[in-house]
Amino acid sequence: MTTLDPTSNHDSTIPSTTESGAPRQSDANSLSVGPNGPLLLHDVALVEKLARFDRERIPERSPHAKGSGAFGELEITEDVSRYTKAGLFQKGVTTPMLARFSTVAGELGSPDTWRDVRGFALKFYTQDGNFDIVGNNTPTFFVRDPMKFPDFIHSQKRLPDSGLRDNNMQWDFWTLSPESSHQVAYLMGDRGLPKTWRNMNGYSSHTYMWVNEAGERFWVKYHFLTEQGVENLRNDEADTLVSKDGDYHRRDLFEAIKNGDFPSWRVEVQIMPYDEAKSYRFNPFDLTKIWSKKDYPRIPVGRFTLNRNPVNHFAQIEQAAFSPSNTVPGTGVSPDKMLLGRIFSYPDAQRNRLGTNFNQLPVNRPVVPTNSYDKEGAMEYTDSGNAPVYAPNSYGRAFQDAQGPVDNGWEADGELVRSAYTLHAEDDDFGQAHTLVRDVFTEEQRGRLVETVTGTLLGGVVEPVLSRVFEYWRNIDQEVGDNIEKAYRQQAGDQVPGGDPIAEG
Ligand code: HEM
Repeated sequence: MTTLDPTSNHDSTIPSTTESGAPRQSDANSLSVGPNGPLLLHDVALVEKLARFDRERIPERSPHAKGSGAFGELEITEDVSRYTKAGLFQKGVTTPMLARFSTVAGELGSPDTWRDVRGFALKFYTQDGNFDIVGNNTPTFFVRDPMKFPDFIHSQKRLPDSGLRDNNMQWDFWTLSPESSHQVAYLMGDRGLPKTWRNMNGYSSHTYMWVNEAGERFWVKYHFLTEQGVENLRNDEADTLVSKDGDYHRRDLFEAIKNGDFPSWRVEVQIMPYDEAKSYRFNPFDLTKIWSKKDYPRIPVGRFTLNRNPVNHFAQIEQAAFSPSNTVPGTGVSPDKMLLGRIFSYPDAQRNRLGTNFNQLPVNRPVVPTNSYDKEGAMEYTDSGNAPVYAPNSYGRAFQDAQGPVDNGWEADGELVRSAYTLHAEDDDFGQAHTLVRDVFTEEQRGRLVETVTGTLLGGVVEPVLSRVFEYWRNIDQEVGDNIEKAYRQQAGDQVPGGDPIAEG
């Protein structure tokens, strides 16, 4: 149990004040004309209190609204300098950090244990500026082009008329977007319901770039492997928790850290030499695919530990702004189209959600000095004195003027097109989903997957989407697809078109 602590942050020894620092006369009674009379507009204390209350809420994150997090440290225990010169990844370096975990589709007050992908966002306060990895607890994603992302999120959110969530809408989108199959198989499998945030792995999902001191480039995928062990909830356990404790995951993390039980994750990477991307059997920039660990084994890098709770959830977690655009020298992005779309979207969302100067908030501010020519805007806080406000200038404020190739770039040319990626030898929409369901899942896990999918179908999925769902799963795995249709028809009391194999045994 948390107890409130009057000593934190405010000067609790003085009686309450207005925001401008003058004593308040009362925290209980408004100023009125006689005890029963009308209230007065010049009751500054009342007007300020109500006006501030009216503005307490800021827009929630559009996806990933419900979440929480904690501070900690990244320690690098291995020498990976042959792959990257990034200061934070050098052996022996420790970097302060913030992590935020979240669900994707639910709103700010939604229960933590609804089946969903979980966000796994990390911010490292490095000596070269902030470095963020904004990943999920899954190594892949539902779509491969940023043009589809808002539609995907809309299909997960609510119907326009009733404001209700709708399984039919989700399956409609997924079955019309077959590239989603790999991620949907993850989501409907056991890992779609992590027991706690401490018991799940995290992944960058995207391919990023590393650059070493000699200028050699590598493609990299980050893996964060829980040292608490992967554990998941069963559907019935998760359902019970929805009504018993909607904040189950938020509470678990906060209590664990408060009790000194600090969760930690091993940091490992898959590294692909730059030139191998062209000929790899899967397109390495397609976010719906993983790189096989047989082809690119995981290499240990270090570990991170979360050991400090926020002292103010709103200031430090709600107002935290993570973005894949926050890279540092020795790192970079890749031609993954989703990642390139995200580079724009995050800071843009944050300018809207938090205001233009969100990077000046303590939780987002780099630990190193900045020298940016961006200026002013609402809530500008830094004092740049009378330094020149333009570059170039003749008055000694430094500026940059690099030209030529950048060290973390790649070659690109061709016609302007709207098109899917070029296919590599083994690229298709269902192959990796099949491997996951058939070779990674056990028989019991496949059984639970069938049960979970069937449960969602019984929750309001109608034709023509329904038949497409059976086909979608048969494309992933014939037996699993057949079993889903069989279980659905049995439970819905429906006839299988063209015969009744259930009755026929
Ligand atoms: C083009 C595709 C995508 C777009 C346009 C997009 C956009 C967004 C936006 C606008 C937010 C809210 C940001 C804020 O208000 O601070 C967000 C949050 C988030 N997204 Fe995405 N997203 C995309 C794909 C992904 C993918 C592929 C992942 C994981 C690999 C991901 C992980 C997250 C996480 C973890 C958060 C929450 C960050 C936090 O804790 O503050 N997103 N996304």
